[in-house]
Amino acid sequence: MRAIVFERNGGPEVLERHERPAPAPGEGEVLVDVEAVGVNYRDVYERNGGGYGSAPPAIIGVEGAGRIAGTEERVAWAHIDGSYAEQIAAPEGKLVAVPEGVSSEVAAAALLQGMTAHYLAADSYPIAGGDWVLIHAAAGGVGLLLTQIATARGGRVIATTSTAEKADLARGAGAEEVIGYDGFAKRVKEITGGDGVRAVYDGVGKTTFLEGLKALAPTGRMILYGAASGQPDPLPLPILAPAGSLYVQRPTLQTYTRTRELLRERARALFELIDSGALEIRIGARYPLERARQAHEDLEARRTTGKLLLIP
Ligand SMILES: NC(=O)c1ccc[n+]([C@@H]2O[C@H](COP(=O)([O-])OP(=O)(O)OC[C@H]3O[C@@H](n4cnc5c(N)ncnc54)[C@H](OP(=O)(O)O)[C@@H]3O)[C@@H](O)[C@H]2O)c1
Repeated sequence: MRAIVFERNGGPEVLERHERPAPAPGEGEVLVDVEAVGVNYRDVYERNGGGYGSAPPAIIGVEGAGRIAGTEERVAWAHIDGSYAEQIAAPEGKLVAVPEGVSSEVAAAALLQGMTAHYLAADSYPIAGGDWVLIHAAAGGVGLLLTQIATARGGRVIATTSTAEKADLARGAGAEEVIGYDGFAKRVKEITGGDGVRAVYDGVGKTTFLEGLKALAPTGRMILYGAASGQPDPLPLPILAPAGSLYVQRPTLQTYTRTRELLRERARALFELIDSGALEIRIGARYPLERARQAHEDLEARRTTGKLLLIP
């Protein structure tokens, strides 16, 4: 079978197409024919190295959807190593059933980023009607979903994006105000009449984190859920006091889906939103599996919007 392997950590050029023997499922595993692979920013961290994800040599990626081999049973997953491949041996406890009205492409596009957006809006800070929140990189994979879910909960979203095209997408997802990154904390204070936002959702990291603290209302929540621009500088805790008794969280989807029950309940809630039409899944680009390198180049260069898929 074909798979995308990295034999050392490094840039997109370390991703190579290899022929590998079909995986042999072990105890509690099933063989899955992969129909669509989800590309996520975490795959960039895994490829770069530094202790995140699999160590090379390995097949990269963790998300996808497909059929249990020899059956018509459709499944999706968000946390199975070696997902950039034609087939995977999948632990049954990490699979969720894909409902009839949802295609495999949409399932692979929605699961990881959608469950993330769901726990961010419902649990990290439970957005309530009328709450102002700031969502960075709102035209990205997580960003477009989080903006829609936040808006559906009655939140008022201020979004950051880097281009006019991305700003239009963020507005389309429900953002009330869309701004650039330069001086964003000051703009947030102006927009909110000096109050600041109840929560900042930050998957950008290094270039936005410290300034984001200045955009928060008293007792507001800084939710640092990723680091597309690099890890932020260490946070001196004492600065949280004069800034307004702030909270900081560094959450992961793994924590929120750490048991089979938590995973299935979160996936159920997500598929319900998709099925009811409340959540639109934007597939920004599809690439043949062989072109994984191009997908990574585009993602890191900020050329993409919504979700990227690889099709085996
Ligand atoms: N903790 C969790 O549970 C969890 C789960 C899933 C994802 N994540 C995190 O969520 C974030 C978004 O992931 P995603 O897969 O949906 O990616 P994405 O948002 O589609 O892509 C990253 C976006 O970040 C923005 N960005 C700002 N500065 C950047 C820089 N220096 N380099 C690259 N991009 C930059 C870009 O949007 P603009 O051009 O508009 O700025 C870019 O499109 C990542 O940090 C990821 O690790 C966390």
